[in-house]
Amino acid sequence: MTIEVTIKTIGLTKTYKGRKGRQVEALKDLNLEIYKSEIFGFLGPNGAGKSTTIKILMGLIFPTEGRFLINGIEGNDISYKRFIGYLPENPSFYEYLTAEELLTFVGRTFEMDDKKIKIETERLLKLLDLFDARKRYIRSYSKGMVQRLGLAQALIHDPEILILDEPMSGLDPLGRILVKDIILELRDRGKTVFMSTHILNDIEILCDRVGIIVQGTLKKIINMDDLMTKGISSYILKFSKLSADMRNKLREYNAVELSETRFRVSKEYITDILYSLKLDENTELRLIEPQRKGLEVLFKEVIRET
Ligand SMILES: Nc1ncnc2c1ncn2[C@@H]1O[C@H](COP(=O)(O)OP(=O)(O)OP(=O)(O)O)[C@@H](O)[C@H]1O
Ligand SMILES: [Mg+2]
Repeated sequence: MTIEVTIKTIGLTKTYKGRKGRQVEALKDLNLEIYKSEIFGFLGPNGAGKSTTIKILMGLIFPTEGRFLINGIEGNDISYKRFIGYLPENPSFYEYLTAEELLTFVGRTFEMDDKKIKIETERLLKLLDLFDARKRYIRSYSKGMVQRLGLAQALIHDPEILILDEPMSGLDPLGRILVKDIILELRDRGKTVFMSTHILNDIEILCDRVGIIVQGTLKKIINMDDLMTKGISSYILKFSKLSADMRNKLREYNAVELSETRFRVSKEYITDILYSLKLDENTELRLIEPQRKGLEVLFKEVIRET
């Protein structure tokens, strides 16, 4: 199977000209490929260059060097924009529009017909829990409401690519669950999602791959499947009952006794141990819990290396 590349950046570099001729190298030689139908997480500390990358992809700022392609279309040909739904960092919209009016406006920009706009507006306002507020001016919205509206306007034309700059930002726990579910549903429907975030847990739940960027440089790309499987170093076995025989057997395999009924065994012995387990009335195994080097550890390592 050939992998289709949806977003490709080639040597993207951005130097901002700050005040008094001070220059900020926000992005350095970014070479990235985002595959079709994947959820790619862009992870990095504050000021790493995530939003800069996203703004370049949206044509809002220009790179100092390098170029990019979206669905094979060069970035200087803005026709690629019709494929994209974009949620900016800290979205703000014209305050004297209502949510309904904003979505209609965005839908028309994407040349949707009014009937379709009406149907989609209603669906999205309900989905994002904004239906009751649909006729209120956006200026009266809370931060979380504006964020949810930001996602609604990114989804209105059912784009095949979503570029989301911190989609969970400013949301309460329920709002985050809602947005997470929406992103997972987008994946089920084969959409490509490029999202930046600080939240490691969101990445673990949502993303297929994650790119770690620090001080404008892409440091590492991690395949989450690999991290979840290959990253396993040991297992915790929890018993509710344990025969003396089994206890001895575990010791033979150098198991670390964490408590009367909990043992840590190294990855290399787990198959042998499970094989020799006699699951009779004297031994009851309750839990096998893989211990892995999580994203958090990896992230800290990458940051420390810089
Ligand atoms: N318009 C600008 N003029 C000068 N410097 C800028 C400008 N915009 C961003 N920068 C600088 O570029 C760097 C990268 O900023 P960027 O907004 O891309 O980071 P980020 O990874 O999105 O951070 P955050 O997680 O805080 O959103 C920072 O050092 C920032 O101060
Ligand atoms: Mg940012």
